[in-house]
Amino acid sequence: MRVVFFVGKPVRANAVFLKIDRHNGGKGHTEGNPRMSEVTAAAGALSDGFLVAFPTETVYGLGADATNAAAVARIYEVKGRPVDHPLIVHLSSSQGMSQWAREIPSYAQALAQAFWPGPMTLVLKRSDLAGDFITGGQDTVGVRVPGHPVALELLAAFEKLGGRGVAAPSANRFGKVSPTTAQAVRDELSEHFGPHDVILEGGSSEVGIESTIIDCTGAAPSILRLGAITSEMITRVSGLELGVRSFEIRVSGSLESHYSPRARVVLGEIPNPGDGFIAPAFHPTPQGVIRLAAPETSEDYARVLYSALRDADEQRLDRVVAIPPVGDDIAAAIRDRLDRASA
Ligand code: TXA
Ligand code: MG
Repeated sequence: MRVVFFVGKPVRANAVFLKIDRHNGGKGHTEGNPRMSEVTAAAGALSDGFLVAFPTETVYGLGADATNAAAVARIYEVKGRPVDHPLIVHLSSSQGMSQWAREIPSYAQALAQAFWPGPMTLVLKRSDLAGDFITGGQDTVGVRVPGHPVALELLAAFEKLGGRGVAAPSANRFGKVSPTTAQAVRDELSEHFGPHDVILEGGSSEVGIESTIIDCTGAAPSILRLGAITSEMITRVSGLELGVRSFEIRVSGSLESHYSPRARVVLGEIPNPGDGFIAPAFHPTPQGVIRLAAPETSEDYARVLYSALRDADEQRLDRVVAIPPVGDDIAAAIRDRLDRASA
């Protein structure tokens, strides 16, 4: 196992970087294992009120102790995000859910059982532990157990130190594309980090788009944000038809324009020479067009979408043409993100 530990000022950054080989993730840690000790150091940084950017299977998160108002305030500062937008609390297991939420319906327990650790966030009535600085002053709290070994280790180590949960939005500036690699976090946020903040490296996010958010405050679940956990999967596990979403609930990911690169994104057009092009693999690339991604499946599409949009900005392209995928599975979530990126 390769563990590289950067301290000080790597390129354009002043945070501490911990590089982790994710292929060894979750397996065979013993006391003194250097990788584990670095996750423990990151957990210590959280306890001390610093920020830790960490990998999840969906996208990278920007974490802080969810009970520490000052630490959470720094998340908003670093992201440039409006303070009334709520944050998701990340936990190492579903057991922690009842600390943060009350009146948890049995269908929510069933969803937690079926899909955690995984790309799903449950919105529940909040307990007293969930402060206004987490919930945006709403009576609900979002909780998630992420399915990435490094995230789970970080959360478990933090809880071992007495932590209750880690508040984490996606680790990007507000309204921008979520990062799916540690490098993308570094590029976007490191100028805003302090010397004690940490970026944990854990490879490319497997899913590539943010978690499905499910409102569990009603008689039946309703989807607030589409993701890899589909409505069909939710219906199957809960045994309930999905409810109608409440528009009073604030989800910044539901703003019409979001997930936007600098380049203009247009959907379904024929690309011109010089345009970027994201389309399922069977679409040929017209002459002079810059192919940014050619995913074979919808899962591939989700995995590469955000890095392709970032790539467009790095190449300083003015326009990206995307051909959305078809289907009801994760393709629906991809179309949702593309619609917002193009709004
Ligand atoms: O996959 C994900 O969910 C990633 C990773 C890091 O876990 N996180 C993420 O967080 O996407 P963020 O903050 O970028 O998007 C979470 C969305 C926001 O739009 C927020 O408004 C919404 O979840 N949210 C959080 N708590 C909520 C609540 N109590 N009620 C309604 N929406 C909530
Ligand atoms: Mg986000």
